[in-house]
Amino acid sequence: MQYRDDTNLTARRSIYVYRQPRIDLVASVLDLAGLTGRETVAEVGCGNGPYLAGLARRGHAGRLLGVDLSPGMLAITRAAVPRVGFAVGDAQRLPLADGAADVVLAPHMLYHVPDQAAAVAEFRRVTRRDGQVLVTLNGADHLAELGELAAGTAAALGLGDPGVWDEQRHLSMTLDPGQRLLSGVFETVERHDFTGQLVLPGPEPVCRYLASMPATQAMPDPAAFTAAAGARMPFGPDGTFRVTTHSGLLICR
Ligand SMILES: C[S@@+](CC[C@H](N)C(=O)[O-])C[C@H]1O[C@@H](n2cnc3c(N)ncnc32)[C@H](O)[C@@H]1O
Repeated sequence: MQYRDDTNLTARRSIYVYRQPRIDLVASVLDLAGLTGRETVAEVGCGNGPYLAGLARRGHAGRLLGVDLSPGMLAITRAAVPRVGFAVGDAQRLPLADGAADVVLAPHMLYHVPDQAAAVAEFRRVTRRDGQVLVTLNGADHLAELGELAAGTAAALGLGDPGVWDEQRHLSMTLDPGQRLLSGVFETVERHDFTGQLVLPGPEPVCRYLASMPATQAMPDPAAFTAAAGARMPFGPDGTFRVTTHSGLLICR
């Protein structure tokens, strides 16, 4: 399972050290949330907890709660931010009472959920009427060049199906449809886009990223695939491979 623990997630995140301009997404999202520090905040799909850790570091005094489908992820996060309460749970049926949270965070997780409308209804249900829900997603163009590289490599190796890049799960719910879905449930949805480029100086970060993908891990020879992808990287005149990054925050009230 992709999220049994945080190994794959951490490997994928490491590529963002090459992002220009540099951005601290967690800090930007928490700044835009404009919290007083007293709110009860629940993060759904908290993973290894960068947002909960960020809130704890900021001295957030209100209750912090993390929910995730993966007990392995929660074990890691519990060790990192011990003051947070945790529950194993599914976004489609949250283990929280109506109006239990002032703020619900759902960063980079909605595209993993089979019934995304059910999850959004749950975000609404567990958030106080005057509270807010913060969802982060990616744009449809996010990492597009990396997707083309992976699909082209798979085709060149006769691995057939461009389904290799089905792994770009984030495409199952991107910013535009996400905004439409949330606008049907909340009165207002305020959008903030964060765009940039990964400026990659060589094949290593790309090979590491591709190696973290389940489709790669399911191949007969994952190392041959990542090496072939590295060899096909279309470096520009400045010797770098540039990849679009595009994520965004939807603040729902
Ligand atoms: C890409 S990670 C994002 C982690 C964290 N929110 C962040 O932004 O760093 C997605 C997380 O969502 C969790 N997840 C996937 N499907 C879920 C579901 N139906 N309900 C709750 N959590 C889920 C995964 O276990 C994983 O930890």
